[in-house]
Amino acid sequence: MHPMLNIAIRAARKAGNHIAKSLENTDKIESVQKGTNDFVTNVDKEAEALIIHTIQTSYPDHSIIAEEGGLIEGKDSDVQWIIDPLDGTQNFVKGIPHFSVSIAVRIKGKTEVACVYDPMLNELFTAQRGAGAQLNNARIRVKALKDLKGTVIGTGFPSRQKQHSESYLKIMSALFVDCADFRRAGSAALDLCYVAAGRLDGYFELGLKPWDMAAGELIAREAGAIVTDFAGGTEYMKSGNVVAASARGAKNMLKIIRENGNEAILK
Ligand code: IPD
Ligand code: CA
Ligand code: CA
Repeated sequence: MHPMLNIAIRAARKAGNHIAKSLENTDKIESVQKGTNDFVTNVDKEAEALIIHTIQTSYPDHSIIAEEGGLIEGKDSDVQWIIDPLDGTQNFVKGIPHFSVSIAVRIKGKTEVACVYDPMLNELFTAQRGAGAQLNNARIRVKALKDLKGTVIGTGFPSRQKQHSESYLKIMSALFVDCADFRRAGSAALDLCYVAAGRLDGYFELGLKPWDMAAGELIAREAGAIVTDFAGGTEYMKSGNVVAASARGAKNMLKIIRENGNEAILK
């Protein structure tokens, strides 16, 4: 195993176990609003500190981008760790046991290793570039599709960018004609891993941040998924708009997204 994946897993398990333990004692959770419909808790910050400490113990010179603390510029700017210490904070705050820890390592701009950990189910999704994706060490594959008939599509509402609601809901209505159902589970990192594991047939969301996607994106691609932006290109890390599914699934979803989305979101 890649040594950095080993450290990423150690960090994700430490943080995940801390988050799960914190859920047992909800009166100790303090939540602060940091933006429109955007909250952070003391547990997000504690989990992030645990992850950063674990990384820096092995790799003191690497750069780190963490959701809550921002950029830590290391001596080595070629290696960048991208961390979402708690993906699914809203679920966590409500006591809904679906959230994850997401850690990816990019070397010279390419994601090399990734892990997403769901501490409530003890499910660890991992990937290494060129070596496939795993759930608890067993190989996972995306579900191959002919069309969208019978499919369950994961998504997230643009709750922090309500200016896009109309366009987003138009896409959903059109997709709903062809697919069977939707899931809005509340952790983008897990949504991408669920596509990788064939639990979801596809996934789309807009307005994400790099740390929501960095790890899940590699895991989905290594499981055979196509990951694109809303224009069918590869700029999703920049635009924050992402589609993931098997090749045929992505093609079908993109067609509907492109026919129904307005210009502001088609990138
Ligand atoms: C959020 C989750 C959610 C997605 C939001 C993200 P956070 O991350 O991934 O599923 O719909 O857009 O911001 O804030 O819980 O880390
Ligand atoms: Ca997130
Ligand atoms: Ca987060």
